[in-house]
Amino acid sequence: MAVVIIGGGQGGFQTAASLRAEGYQERITLIGDEPGVPYQRPPLSKGFLLGKQEQRHAELRPAAFYETQRIDLLTGRVTAIDRVARRVKLDSGEQIEYDTLVLATGARNRPLPHEGVFYLRTLPEATEIRQRLAAAQDVVVIGGGFIGLEVAAAARTLGKQVTVVEGQPRLMARVVAPVVSEYFRGQHEAKGVDILLNAVLLGISEKEVLLEERTRRPADLVIAGIGVVPNVELAREAGLPVGNGITVDEYLRTPDERIFAIGDCAESPSMFAEDLCRLESVQNAVDQAACVAKANVGHRAPYGAVPWFWTDQYDIHLQMAGLPTGFDQVVTRGDPESRKFSVFYFRGGKLCAVDSVNRPADHLAARKLIGAHATVSPDQAKDESFDLKVSRAE
Ligand code: APR
Repeated sequence: MAVVIIGGGQGGFQTAASLRAEGYQERITLIGDEPGVPYQRPPLSKGFLLGKQEQRHAELRPAAFYETQRIDLLTGRVTAIDRVARRVKLDSGEQIEYDTLVLATGARNRPLPHEGVFYLRTLPEATEIRQRLAAAQDVVVIGGGFIGLEVAAAARTLGKQVTVVEGQPRLMARVVAPVVSEYFRGQHEAKGVDILLNAVLLGISEKEVLLEERTRRPADLVIAGIGVVPNVELAREAGLPVGNGITVDEYLRTPDERIFAIGDCAESPSMFAEDLCRLESVQNAVDQAACVAKANVGHRAPYGAVPWFWTDQYDIHLQMAGLPTGFDQVVTRGDPESRKFSVFYFRGGKLCAVDSVNRPADHLAARKLIGAHATVSPDQAKDESFDLKVSRAE
């Protein structure tokens, strides 16, 4: 018996760690294409850029952990999956047999069709950006999503002139309601960040970026965070179904009963959305890993964890619970002016998501409510005297 895990990110690491925690005794091989031990990515666009955190703080476990837990950590690229022989082939020529295969291949940065742009996903990329930031004066960030805004906040905190170039009419439009986008735009602008919305990038030279309508901004460092593309090619070449990610069922299993897919690379049914969804978050990777590990030791259950996300920009801690897709009503609890508020999203009268700015208690209550498939009414949500912990189940 052997489990092979492809991908040494958060999901791959957690699968191996959870298998051992669940008492799995057989061989575990964790194959990643980055050298070194698995690490967390979230700090890379936050404290790491500010010099408040170092590489060792991002490492999930020290090297000794993999020895004591008997997890074979392999650096290399898997080039093919042979489903009939049940083995994976590495670029080194090595072949490894599996009884269970877990695809945790993650996602890669979506590239811009321009030269001279830096991207931030891996530790080496973050290290290079950190070094270049030290020498830069004018920083242009392409993309006003999580990564772009976290990098903008770090660069501004370091005293740089910062411009954010966002193609949509508002910030973080993929994930949050307009009221939250507006709040973040106001906060960045108050810090002196130049936010350009509906902006179209035309070109990048050594000294500046050129945008539509003859807009130019000086730039000695251009960093893009314009979203990610799931790594599905191995699965597709192995004949597994792929949509907006490797398609799995509610047990996170592909139609090949020996192959699972988890984390950023997988799309699965969700108890919190109507369609298949592919989530890009640490929570999702960790909880899906635990679900697959349990299934592998005989405790099979459908995946049902509440999705949650977070971002830190300056001293603003935004926590998101649930999935706001298809929301038709939004109410705000607390006053954004107070820098502490939550936004409640309703779909057909039922609570589907809550974004909390510096209100961790609301976030925790929201996770419980949404996880219990319970709701509050919009009036209750905005009434601060109403205790969110007292709710009615649907
Ligand atoms: N020019 C300007 N903006 C663009 C362009 C473009 N050509 N293309 C995309 N954008 C904008 C999008 O409108 C969006 O606001 O870039 C932003 C990308 O934001 P996200 O989709 O949140 O992706 P990103 O910030 O790159 O984060 C990537 O890292 O932290 C994780 O959860 C996060 O998984 C996500 C990943």
